[in-house]
Amino acid sequence: MLTVGLTLGLSLIIAAYYWLRQHYRYWEKLGLPHIPSTLIVGNVYDLLSSRSCAGEQFMTLHHHPAANGHDFVGIHVLHNHALLLRAPELIKRVLVSDFSKFGSRFARSDPVGDEIGALSLFFAQYDIWKEIRPIFSPLYTYGKVKQMYPLLTQVGYKLEEYMSTLKFDEETNSTVVEVKSMCALYTTDVIASVAFGIEANSLSNPKAEVRNKCIEVNDPRFKRLLHLFTMFFAPKLVGRVGTHIYSPEFEEFMRSFIKYAMDERMRSGAHPNDLVDVFLALKERTIPTAKADVMQKHDFFVAQAAFLLLAGFDTSSSTISFALYELARHPEMQRRLRAELLEALEKGDGVIDYEAVNALPYLRMVVDETLRLYPSNSFVERRCTAVEGYLLDSESGYRIPEGMPIYISILGLHRDERLWPKPLEFDPERFSPENRKLHTPMSYMPFGGGPRGCMGTMLAPMEIKAGLIHILKNYRVETCSLTPSEIKFNAKAFALAGDGGTRLSFVKDKIY
Ligand code: HEM
Repeated sequence: MLTVGLTLGLSLIIAAYYWLRQHYRYWEKLGLPHIPSTLIVGNVYDLLSSRSCAGEQFMTLHHHPAANGHDFVGIHVLHNHALLLRAPELIKRVLVSDFSKFGSRFARSDPVGDEIGALSLFFAQYDIWKEIRPIFSPLYTYGKVKQMYPLLTQVGYKLEEYMSTLKFDEETNSTVVEVKSMCALYTTDVIASVAFGIEANSLSNPKAEVRNKCIEVNDPRFKRLLHLFTMFFAPKLVGRVGTHIYSPEFEEFMRSFIKYAMDERMRSGAHPNDLVDVFLALKERTIPTAKADVMQKHDFFVAQAAFLLLAGFDTSSSTISFALYELARHPEMQRRLRAELLEALEKGDGVIDYEAVNALPYLRMVVDETLRLYPSNSFVERRCTAVEGYLLDSESGYRIPEGMPIYISILGLHRDERLWPKPLEFDPERFSPENRKLHTPMSYMPFGGGPRGCMGTMLAPMEIKAGLIHILKNYRVETCSLTPSEIKFNAKAFALAGDGGTRLSFVKDKIY
């Protein structure tokens, strides 16, 4: 009896092994370029074992020798057959020209157990996304960001006040600061102010509630990492794992935060045309739409607000930190930037208004180069939604089947030496007005691309530039013994961030 059981067990293991081997030979059998993968984990072992963050993992695959010379390469993300696109023309087809066949992300949250996650603009499936996006996009256009600029400036002055209260060494006039945490105080206050019309007071009180909740929501505890990993890479399991983007405490906090913001707005009668105004208009809307019932629920507002808060503070604070890090390492670039700021301050009698910020060429070059070398959202993905599949390549005749995930490594593209010579060097000259014209289209995409690209493409650069202006007009930034000689990315963070933080020395040196 025991022998029969053992034989049966062994046969099952051997059969499973052969089945798995066949499964993972999918690309090989099709004769398409592919990166050899390991059973069960596929090509994402480093990510799974917390050796690298998702951005670095996809960059490693983008630069893999087996991918060399190919426009696309077959990979396995766990057990999923997936494609990694490498050629800008192909990326354009998927994100822009043939968007109708790739309108949903592969990632999603549990629509039953995590309504707040599943309804957010980022995770919403195409049929609901196409109704939500046009409602919120107008909030972040060029004209709207121009209207928001005075609010950004107000927070900028609060950042100056905050920095003036730091303890400086009397002899050297300097102090060491962990920049990412400091910049996150600024970006949290900016988003709370421009989206909700609320003063979050993170800069005046770093322990203030909104800031505390934002720190908590990004805490890389095991449960959160498991949920995020499942949502992004094994979405079929979201129901079984019971994924949630946010903790119940954060959801509760956001519910009362949004209720407070809406009540305040009704009481004050003001209409700054921001996110809260859009929520109030949706609530009162009587014209039925296909998804009207969903879009009038309080949790729908909470879903959008929570995601925008998260999207707005973490990515932008990382970018300001990386820019300061590179400026500290390149004093000649910092001198040039501060000279440009001085000229603008003199012209504007101490004020750099919206038009003036947009007219600062070197500031733009520095920010764009920072987003090239450190694109805080370092990969994008889509799911093929065409029932008939999608003809990827006429030479091989390969059709991407419905449901297959498609990945694009932004970090990989931005550090691809075919597109960016000496890619690891920080060189703002790449973005001089003359050099910009030479870029290959879709080789630079810090904000993703196409109709589902980032909604903050106007707001984020302005928020970053205003932050840099308010810091650099009063301080010179230098490396110190605690500054890493190169940035190692935090393997547990979803947006790119320096591991263990980034410490820099700020020296008092007012230019105006
Ligand atoms: C440096 C700052 C930022 C970077 C690098 C960044 C980058 C990105 C990227 C790469 C995506 C995915 C796009 C795609 O799949 O093609 C994205 C999505 C998104 N971002 Fe940003 N982002 C930043 C700041 C912001 C800000 C300030 C907001 C707030 C308005 C924002 C709102 C969003 C939204 C709503 C989406 C989802 C869009 C959709 O699915 O329709 N982002 N962002």
